[in-house]
Amino acid sequence: MARSFAQLARTAEKTKSSIIISKEPIETPPLEIHTLGDKVLRQEARRISKVNEETRDLAKDMLQSMYSAKGIGLAAPQVGIHKQLLVIDLDLETPTTPPLVLINPEITSCSATLDTYEEGCLSIPGVYLNVIRPSSINLSYRDEMGRPKKMKADGLLARCIQHEMDHLNGVLFVDLVNEQEDLSRALEEHGFDKKDVRIKS
Ligand code: NI
Repeated sequence: MARSFAQLARTAEKTKSSIIISKEPIETPPLEIHTLGDKVLRQEARRISKVNEETRDLAKDMLQSMYSAKGIGLAAPQVGIHKQLLVIDLDLETPTTPPLVLINPEITSCSATLDTYEEGCLSIPGVYLNVIRPSSINLSYRDEMGRPKKMKADGLLARCIQHEMDHLNGVLFVDLVNEQEDLSRALEEHGFDKKDVRIKS
C-alpha cells in the first residue's frame, strides 16, 4: 500500500520480526515494482512450503524496495514473484520498529462491521480511492522463521493486510472501488487504463 495511508494510521504495535533492515530509501532498490496493466499482478501466488534463508532474503529485498518507494505494504506478486509472502511496516518514521513479515497468510474470520478507508497501492502510483472492507480480522500465518502464528488486527493494520492479501489472489484495490466516476477520473489522471480494472461481480 502507498504511504498517504499512514495519515490514518494507528500505531503498529503488533509488528514484530527478526528481520532488521534500514528504512532509508536507496537509489537502486533490488526489486522492480510492477504497475497496473502488467499481467504479473493478476497471477495467483503459491504457498511457500519451506521457509528458509531464501525466503528471508526475498523479504529483505521486498522491504528495501517498499521503503525506497515509501510504501507501508508490499506483496511478492508486485515484484513478479508468485509466492504467498507479504511485508508490512506502518511505522516508517521509527527506524527501530521491526517490520511484519507474513507467509501463507489466511484470514480465519472477519468482523461484520465494515469500514471505508482511502487506499493507495505502489502498483498504481498516485491513485487513492475509498474501499469498503471488514474493520477487523483474525488471521493465521507463518513468520519469517517458519513459525505458525495467529493475530488479530484492526484499524490500518487490518486494512493493509487485506489489501496485500488480495495481491496474492491477483486482486487490486481498484477492482473493489464502488465510485466508478472517481475511479475513471483518478486512473486517467495518472496514466492508467480502466480496461485493466476487473470489476467484481
Ligand atoms: Ni497494493
